[in-house]
Amino acid sequence: MQNKIFKAIYVTILAAVSNLAMASSQLPPKQIEWSFDGIFGYFDKTAIQRGFKVYKEVCQTCHSLKYTSYLDLKKIGFSKDEIKAIASESQVDAAPNEEEVVKKRPAEITDMFVPAYPNEQAARSANNGALPPDLSLIVKARPDGANYLYSILTGYSNHPHANVVIDPGMYYNPYFANQQIAMPPPLSQGLVTYDNNESPSIEQMSKDLVHFLHWTAEPEMEARKLMGIKVLLYLIAFTAIFYIAKKRIWKNVK
Ligand code: HEC
Repeated sequence: MQNKIFKAIYVTILAAVSNLAMASSQLPPKQIEWSFDGIFGYFDKTAIQRGFKVYKEVCQTCHSLKYTSYLDLKKIGFSKDEIKAIASESQVDAAPNEEEVVKKRPAEITDMFVPAYPNEQAARSANNGALPPDLSLIVKARPDGANYLYSILTGYSNHPHANVVIDPGMYYNPYFANQQIAMPPPLSQGLVTYDNNESPSIEQMSKDLVHFLHWTAEPEMEARKLMGIKVLLYLIAFTAIFYIAKKRIWKNVK
């Protein structure tokens, strides 16, 4: 009898704890296959360019990209004239004039990407107190970053888990810590038009953004992987040469 009571209490506590855990812990990211995964991983430049377009038209309103310069866009296939045009859409502080007045000038290709807000306070006050983080390194700064980013962008839902209480000004997203995020769902079908006049789905835009932000986080990835492959080939070649040499040197010794 006593045993039964203990068991009932135990089961109730376990259920309560697991419910609490479900309510507060985030889901593991969805698993996607990326072109940049693995030792033969490569950059898909057209995907990166499309991702840049989405960043520029949507995410840039709130998120900075302070470790990328306009000139870096050359590496993903933009021409100098295209980059000039892109840079000149943003304004930066010019050097102070003789009267020490700081005026604005259009950004030049050697400038870093111009941030959306002048400082953290401005960013927070425009976003209900939450800070939109700089996205340059976000893919490297979060565990399983590419999949995490994809999951956040595609993970919004209007049907929270029964035990999740959504605070005012927050949005349900089970892939973010505490399952709620201060960022309103940034993407919707048709928000951006691609160069071929296609109106991409949320999933497509999210994938392209992951390609773009993976590139901003690790622009030297292809060179690093190529070096790894060269080193491996070198070691294999030398193993073969030394094996043949050993056979020759010891051929008369039994
Ligand atoms: C209206 C402003 C706004 C827009 C537009 C916006 N974000 Fe956000 N974003 C935020 C805020 C605010 C946060 C912080 C959320 C929090 O802390 O709860 C955030 C958080 C994030 C995070 C989570 C970072 C972390 O700490 O793990 C990612 C990733 C992200 N945004 C990516 C994007 C991408 C990609 C776009 C473009 C499609 C975008 N955001 C558009 C405001 C915005």
